[in-house]
Amino acid sequence: MFESIEAAPVDPILGLTDAFKAETRPGKINLGVGVYQDEHGVTPVLPSVIEATRRVTASEKTKSYLPIPGAPEYGAAVQLLMLGNGHEVLVSNRASTSHTPGGTGALRVVGDFLKQNFPGATIWMTDPTWANHPAIFAAAGVKTGTLPYFDAATNGLAFEAFLDALKKLPAGDAVLLHGCCHNPTGIDPTIEQWRQIAAVLAERKVLPVLDFAYQGFGDGVEEDAAGLREFCTPGAELIICSSFSKNFGLYRERVGAVTFVSQDAERRAIVQSQVNRVIRTIYSNPPAHGAALVTTILADADLKKQWLGELEHMRNRINGMRTLLVEKLVEHGAKADYSFIQQQRGMFSFSGLSKEQVAKLREHDAIYLVGSGRINVAGITPTNVDALAKAIVSVL
Ligand code: LMR
Repeated sequence: MFESIEAAPVDPILGLTDAFKAETRPGKINLGVGVYQDEHGVTPVLPSVIEATRRVTASEKTKSYLPIPGAPEYGAAVQLLMLGNGHEVLVSNRASTSHTPGGTGALRVVGDFLKQNFPGATIWMTDPTWANHPAIFAAAGVKTGTLPYFDAATNGLAFEAFLDALKKLPAGDAVLLHGCCHNPTGIDPTIEQWRQIAAVLAERKVLPVLDFAYQGFGDGVEEDAAGLREFCTPGAELIICSSFSKNFGLYRERVGAVTFVSQDAERRAIVQSQVNRVIRTIYSNPPAHGAALVTTILADADLKKQWLGELEHMRNRINGMRTLLVEKLVEHGAKADYSFIQQQRGMFSFSGLSKEQVAKLREHDAIYLVGSGRINVAGITPTNVDALAKAIVSVL
């Protein structure tokens, strides 16, 4: 049977890692997949995670299955980190969180949930969005559509066009937003714009789905949750997909979560019963280890403080590289104004480089970035920034 199968295209993001590994030229630079690298190009295990691993390993008593939504302490820790102590959603007990294998697992649970419970719904996405978003929802059989988001003329948010498009959406559809550090553009709405977006969706009865994969990489853990909290008004419904790959550096442990915020506690239980049904047929119940690390760190005041410091260090390093890249571009003779790179937030910068320019960088300089022109700023180091800026200017 397999002779009829055709090869699938290489993944536009993860496929780059394989190509980069196979690259033999010295001085190669990897700005592809969204993985943090330190100033030596290494993706470290955070010291807080090393300590949590020691504690979890020492105290683990069983490898028996977890409940379908995972450990309740993990769910509670995730909710607290997103919403903050004493938030009305927590006090009303109207949110339920399931531990999912990564943020991708969370998105797929949402896809299956929408398909099974709202078969006619379309999920609308920003243009551009993470390359895997449309694929995940299409795989679940959910219709997808796009909304204007990026304004190439200003390298900023096309806010009016975005809001106008939201105002035209039919009730019962869903919108997938990036809670912070928009991937791939690095451009987020201001808090006032978030407020307007939340109000329009509530008025239109359109379900907000927030992909929240970079909390702490923008301006801080609290600051980055501010937009998301605008949606959590009394009685409002929404879904949040979390990932702890980046902010805890737990990429391969696949630690994510999906949180359904319902109208009230009664509805919460009914919704969760459907979420459990979805999870049971995809991966049955989640892996334990990574979530236990996150729970251990967030539950211990000292360890949490240490982790926040490590996260701040990663954030500051990325923002420092944004500034340095802009300086080096000017130094190498770039004519255009690249200060927008410094205003963008999170791991990524939408550089404005075309597909052809991206291909040239790879061919001539062994510099790897996603075809859309997205740069993983965390791949820039004080050692490679000069060569990078020089190569970029040479293809402009
Ligand atoms: C990225 O956008 O590079 C990351 O989210 C990793 C991935 O899975 O694509």
